[in-house]
Amino acid sequence: MSALPFSEATFPLYLAPMAGVTDKSFRQICKNYGADVLVTEFVSAEGVFRRNQRTREYLDFDEIERPIGVQLFGADAAHMAEAARQVVDWVAPDFIDLNFGCPVNKVVAKNGGSALLKDCPTLASVAHSVVQAVGPVPVTAKIRIGWDADRINARDVAKILENCGIAALAVHGRTRAQGYSGEADWRVIGEVAQSVAMPVIGNGDLASAESVARRRAETNISGAMIGRAAMSAPWIFRQIKHYLATGELLSPPPLSERWNIILDHCRAEVREWGVEEPAMRSLRARLMAYSKNLPEAKSLRDKFQYVSSVAEVEKIAGRHITQSGSSASHPMPLVAT
Ligand SMILES: Cc1cc2nc3c(=O)[nH]c(=O)nc-3n(C[C@H](O)[C@H](O)[C@H](O)COP(=O)(O)O)c2cc1C
Repeated sequence: MSALPFSEATFPLYLAPMAGVTDKSFRQICKNYGADVLVTEFVSAEGVFRRNQRTREYLDFDEIERPIGVQLFGADAAHMAEAARQVVDWVAPDFIDLNFGCPVNKVVAKNGGSALLKDCPTLASVAHSVVQAVGPVPVTAKIRIGWDADRINARDVAKILENCGIAALAVHGRTRAQGYSGEADWRVIGEVAQSVAMPVIGNGDLASAESVARRRAETNISGAMIGRAAMSAPWIFRQIKHYLATGELLSPPPLSERWNIILDHCRAEVREWGVEEPAMRSLRARLMAYSKNLPEAKSLRDKFQYVSSVAEVEKIAGRHITQSGSSASHPMPLVAT
């Protein structure tokens, strides 16, 4: 079992868990471009007990994806501990990650995700029980900075989690009330990183190599977690690594390579689903995200709305590359926002 990749010499880049996005195909694309640590889409304790097809898909990963964590959410400490134990026996992830940040009503209504930020005794009991249940497998956690602007308590929560034996903490610099609006508050992330000994992974609005370098210089974070920017530019991990190592900004890949990423993603998804049409339907939203980083994005989005086969995407790609004049590097922003 690989250890969590933390040491003074490394600054791991995490692909943020994103439900409906970071499935096996997408995780492997990001891994190819240098994401160091991957996390599955979240699954509830009850989902683990049911072991239905959907749960199997959520927990499915290939060896090449290690180190990988399985993210669990729930507010019942005994259930979470049992679910974590079962996941470890079942798929042997490198770590279990606890979701204390999800803002979605369906999750919060059952006291899961970010709801536990305003119920620290329950949060502590979930964390403590899971750590006890799966040790020596490391348990990490992901939080938001608080429930709302009046209740920013990430430092207290981090201390509690550290005392429960949590091995590393990812902090998304928004409150639950913010959803995905406004800006991530990196001052609070920095304060959390200063106040605990465990590694703190900074998350929120990291959309370029320079922004990661700047946040690293300004705070005591031990790693960075990238979410939405990777959806349209999975090569961002390579750019960040290169920039941190050399101070040079790598250009985005040439247009032809970007299309290869898209086509590989389509083919992998069709392989996973075993049936092309529903696989391609499910990919439409992902194709829309990729289009952000391509010239003529609007016209591509219009076409992506209706694709139902890989051949159609191949045709769109061929035409687009020809129309764009060359398959060489296109003058594009580092990451479209
Ligand atoms: C579509 C989507 C799904 C998400 N699903 C999860 C999830 O399952 N678990 C989780 O901890 N965070 C989830 N998040 C939050 C991200 O992990 C991350 O914290 C957030 O997007 C901020 O990072 P970014 O600015 O780099 O995108 C999700 C975010 C998005 C956009």
